[in-house]
Amino acid sequence: MASPALISETEQWKDLKQHVSEIQTTHLRDLMNDVDRCQSMMVEHEGIFLDYSRQRVTKETMGKLFKLAEAAHLKEKIEKMYGGEKINSTENRSVLHVALRAAREKEIYSDGKNVVPEVWQVLDKIKDFSEKVRSGAWIGATGKPLKDVVSVGIGGSFLGPLFVHAALQTDAVAAEYAKGRQLRFLANVDPVDVARSIKDLDPETTLVVVVSKTFTTAETMLNARTLREWISSSLGAGAVAKHMVAVSTNLPLVKDFGIDPANAFAFWDWVGGRYSVCSAVGVLPLSLQYGFSVVEKFLEGARSIDNHFYSAPFESNIPVLVGLLSVWNVTFLGYPARAILPYSQALEKFAPHIQQLSMESNGKGVSIDGTPLPFEAGEIDFGEPGTNGQHSFYQLIHQGRVIPCDFIGAVRSQQPIYLKGEVVSNHDELMSNFFAQPDALAYGKNPDELLRDKVPDHLIPHKTFTGNRPSLSILLPSLSAYDVGQLLAIYEHRIAVQGFVWGINSFDQWGVELGKSLATQVRKQLHASRVDEKPVQGFNFSTTTLLSRFLEVRTLYDGTVLPKNVI
Ligand code: F6P
Repeated sequence: MASPALISETEQWKDLKQHVSEIQTTHLRDLMNDVDRCQSMMVEHEGIFLDYSRQRVTKETMGKLFKLAEAAHLKEKIEKMYGGEKINSTENRSVLHVALRAAREKEIYSDGKNVVPEVWQVLDKIKDFSEKVRSGAWIGATGKPLKDVVSVGIGGSFLGPLFVHAALQTDAVAAEYAKGRQLRFLANVDPVDVARSIKDLDPETTLVVVVSKTFTTAETMLNARTLREWISSSLGAGAVAKHMVAVSTNLPLVKDFGIDPANAFAFWDWVGGRYSVCSAVGVLPLSLQYGFSVVEKFLEGARSIDNHFYSAPFESNIPVLVGLLSVWNVTFLGYPARAILPYSQALEKFAPHIQQLSMESNGKGVSIDGTPLPFEAGEIDFGEPGTNGQHSFYQLIHQGRVIPCDFIGAVRSQQPIYLKGEVVSNHDELMSNFFAQPDALAYGKNPDELLRDKVPDHLIPHKTFTGNRPSLSILLPSLSAYDVGQLLAIYEHRIAVQGFVWGINSFDQWGVELGKSLATQVRKQLHASRVDEKPVQGFNFSTTTLLSRFLEVRTLYDGTVLPKNVI
């Protein structure tokens, strides 16, 4: 018998639907008393410890979720991904970010061709180039070494590398390699971002890396032209060859831009933008900053999770478990959001990266064959490092909306401090919150307890915590480059698991196109109004009014400001 087109039509899905009412009668306060249950919800891989006992699940729920995974052919879909099948069907592409961190001798095929040798060709080229720049063998147009790098790119060509850069900045090993060097990012087409990204930098000692999969993204290309102008106006047009390199799948456009193809670092259409941090997109700027050996450790960490995800049974497979739990929370329990709460300042850019990874991947309304989904998929991701988040939005998480939380912490701090006379070290102070918050959410505080604490009657409703708010905790051994690679891959695969179970295409992003094409129309209008004094036309009343207001104070492109009503 053919499988149903939608996962929601399967018996396993319906069974879980029915099971929801059983779970609604439970409270985490009681579930947490069952030690056997809790023990079954703790999993370890290479020192990464996952505790999901504070999820609103029983062992029975987990059994049903594993059956759902089977009904969704999760195992087969994972195998198809690793096997290079064109699972991104709307773009007819393989999805092979795992090949980016595969061991040199591994064989992974797309279109009948082993892609691992070309991956390593680019990695070797990055190693060679970054060593030359770092050692001063590659110098700028005026003979000075290039100590600063500005990486120009947006979305997947920015957020992953930024997350890893932020994570490595205070790692002792990485920081040692980065001494005397700066890595900055320019993403927003806002000229303010241009000004900030090059503030106090000297073109003579700066290398610009233009990162764009397509080399057509409007924001990146204007920013790249702006920095090309910054370099050539100061050092002459000939300096571009020494001060600008590129990362792209579109090498002809790199050449047209004026960057020597010898200084272009390739990647491939089987790497999705948001899954590209392990390609030259991340590896080049990060190697320039930290040296290739540090970045290689990051790739090895990701590889360890790739192997775990491919081979571990679902019951002990971290990405599978957290992915299934997200499906349970979003679709069955109806919690639309997820808070990502790393108890580490080094992970300050993790949530923004996961926002793109998750929301661009799974923010879909139709199944992979185009059928409208009769259930909610996708997830609203947001987050901040603890403890900052605690002093910001945790109020809502504790007493307002129910938002499943991911608590992420590390056993060892990158920067340990202990002040003599203090009760605990600074890291232990931080981690006290990591351990306390999940229990506060799960257990809450009821009116009886408040009465016992002699809380005045009128404050009891305000001080009551209903509890029963789910979370999971991930405890990493440390935050070395290797651990950071592992964390990245856990989330990449988790998001794939969610998409595979929902039956959607997690690897396309058609939803970003409409806004882009409407912006093209506006761009034309702005040009026509400012340069040829054309009136605003062809837009609805609201947009016409807004545009007219914007154009009221007419700033010409040469900087002349014309008085109001001169149009
Ligand atoms: O936002 C849409 C998007 O296509 C992302 O998927 C991608 O990461 C980003 O734009 C940047 O694209 P590119 O690397 O081609 O410049």
